[in-house]
Amino acid sequence: APPAIIAPSILSADFAELGKACSDTISQGADWLHVDIMDGHFVPNMTFGAPVVTKIRPHVERPASAYGKGTFDCHMMIAEPKRWVRDFQKAGCDLYCFHYEAAINSTDADTPSGSSSGKTSPKDLIRFIHELGMQAGIAIKPKTPVDVLWEILDNPVETERPDMVLVMTVEPGFGGQSFMASELPKVSALRKRYPEMHIEVDGGLSGKTIDQAADAGANVIVAGSAVFGAKDPAEVISALRTAVEA
Ligand code: DX5
Ligand code: ZN
Repeated sequence: APPAIIAPSILSADFAELGKACSDTISQGADWLHVDIMDGHFVPNMTFGAPVVTKIRPHVERPASAYGKGTFDCHMMIAEPKRWVRDFQKAGCDLYCFHYEAAINSTDADTPSGSSSGKTSPKDLIRFIHELGMQAGIAIKPKTPVDVLWEILDNPVETERPDMVLVMTVEPGFGGQSFMASELPKVSALRKRYPEMHIEVDGGLSGKTIDQAADAGANVIVAGSAVFGAKDPAEVISALRTAVEA
């Protein structure tokens, strides 16, 4: 099984001290930084864009290898995922995780696309992300059935296949919401079919909910309020890791 990866979501960090918050969480034991990008359109909230990512990037050492410590895991809760791939690559994103729902409902022409409908096809988007040297993730919201992913994950062309699936365990948009255990069967189904793939869960993860998520087979754990709201974030990070490794 893939290793446990703990990815604190800086959505719950102090935005006035963001650089320091990023370097602190890495020294406290975090593997990745989960960077939530919201456009006020795909989700009913806004955060920040590539210029902020550019400014925080030097506060965290670049990963030595793919998926290594210091990976910037950019969770793109935006309506036009194709449009921002280049900007985020330049800003220092390592893993560009777009939403399936946004991809199939957007139409911009930023990538060399083989599709004639003009719709963004997940596989073309994934290939484009890979061409720019990043890992590609695909995220699904609670209302999206996991079955939509099989065709994408079973693509025989390696460069068109995602490196990670993100199963949302809350409706995307805000930190501090309650964990939706109803989403865990998606994680189990994914783990059964893809024993070695990175499977990320995001939303409501804490000491109380981690065991269920880990049992279902998640190995990449996002936690915002649980880490940044803790008196001792290092202890929370270590407890999450222990639960996944158990
Ligand atoms: C929600 C974001 C999450 C959020 C998680 O839309 O994608 O990454 O920060 O926050 P917690 O861990 O507090 O639920
Ligand atoms: Zn997120």
